[in-house]
Amino acid sequence: MRTVEYTRQGAAAQVLTLREEARRPAPGSGEVLVRVLVRPIHPGDLIGVEGLPGRPEQQSGARTPGVEGMGVVESVGADVRTLRPGQRVAVFPAPGTWSDFVVVPADLAVPVPAGVSDETAALMLVNPLTLCMLYRAIEKALRGQTGPVLQTAAGSSIGRLVSAAAVRHDLQLINLVRSTSGAEKVRTSYPSQPVIATCDDDWQGQVRRHAGERGVQVVLDCVGGSMTQDLAGLLADGGTLISYGHLSSGTTPLEALPLIARELTVRGVSILHWMSRTPRERAEDVAFAQDLAQNAPDLLDVAASYDLADFKTAIEHARRPAKSGTVLLTTPQTTADSGNEAA
Ligand SMILES: NC(=O)c1ccc[n+]([C@@H]2O[C@H](COP(=O)([O-])OP(=O)(O)OC[C@H]3O[C@@H](n4cnc5c(N)ncnc54)[C@H](OP(=O)(O)O)[C@@H]3O)[C@@H](O)[C@H]2O)c1
Repeated sequence: MRTVEYTRQGAAAQVLTLREEARRPAPGSGEVLVRVLVRPIHPGDLIGVEGLPGRPEQQSGARTPGVEGMGVVESVGADVRTLRPGQRVAVFPAPGTWSDFVVVPADLAVPVPAGVSDETAALMLVNPLTLCMLYRAIEKALRGQTGPVLQTAAGSSIGRLVSAAAVRHDLQLINLVRSTSGAEKVRTSYPSQPVIATCDDDWQGQVRRHAGERGVQVVLDCVGGSMTQDLAGLLADGGTLISYGHLSSGTTPLEALPLIARELTVRGVSILHWMSRTPRERAEDVAFAQDLAQNAPDLLDVAASYDLADFKTAIEHARRPAKSGTVLLTTPQTTADSGNEAA
């Protein structure tokens, strides 16, 4: 069994190593052992490995990246009645999916609907569930209005999900990307939505013209950094800045006085809080994710797949500008088979 791990935070290429061992973990009561076949590289996985500036490392000891993946149930612990060995499942939150095997509570292993590919199943939970959380935050901030909402990194995997949801719900969305070529790609996919490239000197003027008299009601931002102050400046009085990612480097300054004088709201959204929803609410979100995987798999786009052992090349690809979709790490069935003694 192969496991990617790190013992201290730092540049991913330097701190991550591949460990091989003969024994695999065993599921306890209420748990299942999953032979992970495909797992994504999410930007958040890399933040976990590299840390954030000014934020001291909070954990010690060996850790394995990854919170999501898909695979096959290898064995079930006592009291597990809902899953059986051989069943295809997607798992989240499942810390340590960058390994050939992971143990998860049985209620966090979601059956993969028939007809959904392994690649789509590996992307079925984190981004669609994040979309659910973001959409709820947008609706709350809009208080019954239909926009305008301005989103950054519109060409990202999440950005494309937001665009598709906006079309479906008749939400007035303005898309921001950082390059002209990126703008062209988003425009081709969502021709009804304005797309503006922040490399244009006049990008803020263009946003104002598209937003019209009411002004931007909500900004959905996953870039952060120095642009955040400009984004807040585009909000109408009483508007809301929803921050959910930090793709840029550096700190995110926000001037207090304009926030106060214009009664702006700043809020964060994190998938890490999804588990605090009730079991019924989570089941509704998971049903949405399963439906999306079955009926709109093109929204869960794959950039490329690499063997788990090639994680360094895969990470370099995941960070490449102008990439479309998510980079996956795979385990061939034969590799996961080797080292088959339970610990
Ligand atoms: N809060 C949560 O719970 C949660 C959950 C999931 C994801 N996220 C966040 O959502 C964001 C998108 O994730 P994803 O998986 O959809 O990403 P992704 O598919 O890897 O796409 C990344 C996108 O970001 C753009 N980008 C990268 N650096 C940028 C910068 N400095 N300025 C402007 N644009 C930049 C890229 O544009 P180019 O095409 O121009 O290269 C690309 O379109 C990330 O910040 C991630 O951490 C948050």
